[in-house]
Amino acid sequence: MGGRYCCWCAVLLGWLLLVAPANGIGANWGTQTSHPLSPSVVVQMLRDNGIQKVKLFDAEDATLSALRKTRIQVMVGIPNELLASLASSMKAAESWVSKNVSGYVSDGVDIRYVAVGNEPFLKTYNGSFLQTTFPALQNIQSALIKAGLGNQVKVTCPLNADVYQSPSGKPSDGDFRTDIRDLMLAIVKFLNDNASPFTVNIYPFISLYTDASFPVDYAFFDGTTTPVLDGSTTYNNMFDANHDTLLWALKKNGFGNLPIIIGEIGWPTDGDMNANIQYAQKFNQGLLTHISTGQGTPMRPGPIDVYMFSLIDEDEKSIQPGNFERHWGIFYFDGVPKYHLGASSSGLVRAKGVQYLEKKWCVFKPSANVEDSKVADSVSYACANADCTSLGYKTSCGDLDAMGNVSYAFNNYYQKNDQDDRACDFNNLATITNKNPSDTVCRFQIMILTESGGANLRGLVALYIIVPFYLLTLL
Ligand SMILES: *[C@@H]1O[C@H](CO)[C@@H](O)[C@H](O)[C@H]1NC(C)=O
Ligand SMILES: *[C@@H]1O[C@H](CO)[C@@H](O)[C@H](O)[C@H]1NC(C)=O
Ligand SMILES: *[C@@H]1O[C@H](CO)[C@@H](O)[C@H](O)[C@H]1NC(C)=O
Repeated sequence: MGGRYCCWCAVLLGWLLLVAPANGIGANWGTQTSHPLSPSVVVQMLRDNGIQKVKLFDAEDATLSALRKTRIQVMVGIPNELLASLASSMKAAESWVSKNVSGYVSDGVDIRYVAVGNEPFLKTYNGSFLQTTFPALQNIQSALIKAGLGNQVKVTCPLNADVYQSPSGKPSDGDFRTDIRDLMLAIVKFLNDNASPFTVNIYPFISLYTDASFPVDYAFFDGTTTPVLDGSTTYNNMFDANHDTLLWALKKNGFGNLPIIIGEIGWPTDGDMNANIQYAQKFNQGLLTHISTGQGTPMRPGPIDVYMFSLIDEDEKSIQPGNFERHWGIFYFDGVPKYHLGASSSGLVRAKGVQYLEKKWCVFKPSANVEDSKVADSVSYACANADCTSLGYKTSCGDLDAMGNVSYAFNNYYQKNDQDDRACDFNNLATITNKNPSDTVCRFQIMILTESGGANLRGLVALYIIVPFYLLTLL
């Protein structure tokens, strides 16, 4: 990471892996997983890796309690589903702040921001949150002031980068999207009036995913054969250009000094041909190095405030945006680092004290026939209820043969159901083995022991009710 830190310092500060100047590097901590690490294990992992700030998507008690007296700065989140009630009722906003901010602040949780909504203006939401986001933001701000936290805790609203655009592709032609321009200006003015930051999520990966002609090297930080020329400025990476497109949009409308937080940025490791360990490592290391220089972007030199997306993989995220959605972590779901990242030669520090289920796997029975008519339905069922996003073209398990595919699906379902014997039957096509079917790239994972071990029984009950019913309908 740049030349700022000598190797001795790097050795001495071995724990401070994700070093960045000024206010440090942050990470998003999502919890949409079937087998979550316990919050105290995650907090220790954050500290071991020098991550000084976290962004949450809600305000769960277990998470916030684990952050008490840790000096880790926290952005709590309000899910989009709560926006309507918070927009229409000042009382609801006050009780949200009272329950989810005030109590924790006085208990030693260093809450700095409340994220009101999460990318509420995404086009896929079809305008559902256009009416409620701004009033909810206003009500939460009033509630914070009323609670005496107006200076200490700031509101913000994490937005997707398509709320602004540049018709020419040059950052200096940037402005807010025409259909929501008035709303954006009202929100920006409000943030400015309250000394609050603009939060934006920037994803070069998504540009590559959605546009086959997007120049791959422009997504990274190592230079490009197709830079964007903007007057006398040359942009060599998409991050800088995108950031400065926002800055121009703000500047043009009179808010050129508004602080900007990068609420999410990262690269997934699986589930798509461009989602792999090599690209993710290259992107995230490039990003950290870029940040650690402190040089900023052409339009705004200086430190950049960044929350990486994401800390750990989440196997229950919706895959509607794409199969890569469950693979954004710099750590796997169990807190094992995926690749080398940071200044220290030893890299990221894995989660400590994680307990695993037994070393056994559910696989396709060697004696069974892959042509068996029940195979397809069993695999569909397993994949619909577990996670098969590592199967597919150019994914980590994309090179398995037909039997390997079936085994992968069966095993994932079996592990997700905490190795319950009944979850490794599949019409007598499956069997349990002690031999790890993984190879160097394709992981047949074993789940971890969780505090709420019984939670997955729901899934099993569903198996017993739905499978027979499902098979009946095929007769
Ligand atoms: C506090 O946050 C939690 C978790 O996001 C949410 O379920 C709850 O409704 C909130 N409490 C209030 C009083 O709004
Ligand atoms: C989107 O909103 C329009 C207008 O409110 C509605 O007619 C349409 O059904 C919605 N589509 C979806 C996918 O929600
Ligand atoms: C394995 O599964 C993947 C994903 O469903 C599929 O694309 C691939 O063709 C399968 N391979 C074989 C050999 O059946």
